[in-house]
Amino acid sequence: MEYLDMVVNETLRLFPIAGRIERVCKKDVEINGVPIRKGTVVMIPSYVLHRDPQHWPEPEEFHPERFSKKNKDSIDPYIYMPFGNGPRNCIGMRFALMNMKLALVKVMQNFSFQLCKETQIPLKLADQGLLQPEKPIILKAVCRDGTISGA
Ligand code: HEM
Repeated sequence: MEYLDMVVNETLRLFPIAGRIERVCKKDVEINGVPIRKGTVVMIPSYVLHRDPQHWPEPEEFHPERFSKKNKDSIDPYIYMPFGNGPRNCIGMRFALMNMKLALVKVMQNFSFQLCKETQIPLKLADQGLLQPEKPIILKAVCRDGTISGA
């Protein structure tokens, strides 16, 4: 399941459901010379950080290898944060990852997917709220011969 993990990670890099996260500053601080006053809402732009060319070569390309065993240790956890970070990160992270992988395995064992004339290319993202496509993603599901079981 190593490659599946890489694919899910790369998908969440390009399409982090929460495109930004926020924190309220609890006390006056200075970070890298920038003063932040108590009570200020600080926004962390995950979507932008996930596509920053300073951190990701060819950021718009889908390359699961970024998350290979060899490469993943060089990923900065404050740059890649599809589930946020710190004590208030996503409580459902492990549950979500397990479910996405189980669903993908179950579906991919029986079907492969192809583009069709209804597929929106390039994919357009809706411009508000949680990250989601502007229109449903329509693909042609092709049954893998002989692999569907009655179960
Ligand atoms: C792919 C799926 C998911 C993604 C990408 C995601 C992402 C996130 C992100 C970015 C945050 C904000 C973290 C922060 O501010 O540092 C968050 C918070 C949260 N998520 Fe998720 N989430 C996912 C699925 C789930 C699921 C399945 C559950 C529950 C079963 C869940 C429950 C929560 C809760 C309760 C919080 C608030 C945690 C807190 O404020 O302490 N999430 N999630």
